[in-house]
Amino acid sequence: MRIILVGFGTVGKGVTTIIGRRYTENAKAYGFNPKIVAIADIDGAVIDQRGLSAQKLEEIKQRGYPISADPDFGHPGMPALDVIESVEAEVVVEVTPVNIKNAEPALSHITKAFKTGKHVVTTNKGPLALAMPALTELAEYNNVYFRFSGTVGGGTPMLEFAKRCLDGDRILSIRGILNGTTNYILTEMSVNRVSFQDALANAQKLGYAEREPSMDIDGFDTACKVVILSNWIMNQKVTLKDVNRTGIREVTLKGLDDASKRGNTIKLIGSIYNDKPTVKPTELPKNHPLCVSGVLNAITYSTEYAAEQTLIGRGAGGMETASAVLRDLLDIRHKLANRLLNNNSES
Ligand SMILES: NC(=O)c1ccc[n+]([C@@H]2O[C@H](COP(=O)([O-])OP(=O)(O)OC[C@H]3O[C@@H](n4cnc5c(N)ncnc54)[C@H](OP(=O)(O)O)[C@@H]3O)[C@@H](O)[C@H]2O)c1
Repeated sequence: MRIILVGFGTVGKGVTTIIGRRYTENAKAYGFNPKIVAIADIDGAVIDQRGLSAQKLEEIKQRGYPISADPDFGHPGMPALDVIESVEAEVVVEVTPVNIKNAEPALSHITKAFKTGKHVVTTNKGPLALAMPALTELAEYNNVYFRFSGTVGGGTPMLEFAKRCLDGDRILSIRGILNGTTNYILTEMSVNRVSFQDALANAQKLGYAEREPSMDIDGFDTACKVVILSNWIMNQKVTLKDVNRTGIREVTLKGLDDASKRGNTIKLIGSIYNDKPTVKPTELPKNHPLCVSGVLNAITYSTEYAAEQTLIGRGAGGMETASAVLRDLLDIRHKLANRLLNNNSES
């Protein structure tokens, strides 16, 4: 499997590390022989059809140069779109920064990949939040696979669990704590009685929150994940504008105290109930399995037969999220092998 990696930041580096590890074991167990033939970031690209050495590229970056400064395989200034168009590969792994205004540059990268017959794995919520129904249709039209496990729950297999482990059952509703930053802030407020502003400042100091924290605290990040769950798991056709969204700016210490007297606490919950995608601070019993603290994420699927199923895990992290990319690559590899088998038995 030849891979073009677009973006060489926290997740991109995690992907190159994970792909390099246990290579022989994966080849034996899954017939999986991945080779990263190109990496593109904002400054240019490196391309080698025989496979790139991620370690060498990290060293170049650590010395303060862009990866495209590689003297042997560098292409300074070459845009990712040209790389996707011109380099021969089976899969594009898209891991550039999220943008919920127009989803760029990821939206163009993904559509270019589809149109050139390449499967796509992404951890970028932007294109899915704004155009998921159109993108899944375009992938089908071009007969390629589109996978995005790392967009919800980081390395925790929230999407795969719902898609594959509940066969024959029916998911009636979904509730989740899908954003670690806001969960950290609410936990600090309720457990340590810190004000919202101080808890936010702590989150920023620890690197959990951006300097511009609106994406997290106004609930946009959770809403993006609710859109992905609505489309992929509940078979709806919705985008970000369809989500009824309230963030955590109005949550107060008094509100948390009042909830506590009732044995509850307040969490930012993303939910799909009666087909309505919603994000809002919600009271939850402190002893409910969903009620995780700190930066943890959790999701509860309410199902017709198996009742409530809750998954808990880290919702972010370079290696964690890269592990979701690996699972998606293995899934594509498995599907391609099945396609080949079916074609051979038909012919
Ligand atoms: N980090 C996590 O824990 C996590 C978890 C789940 C999902 N995600 C999602 O995964 C994606 C990647 O996250 P990250 O943490 O790896 O971000 P990051 O560290 O900021 O890395 C982004 C990479 O994309 C490159 N890039 C920016 N604009 C580009 C362009 N126009 N063309 C090609 N490359 C471009 C950047 O290059 P420069 O460095 O040169 O700017 C950088 O290499 C994001 O969408 C994020 O929301 C991240």
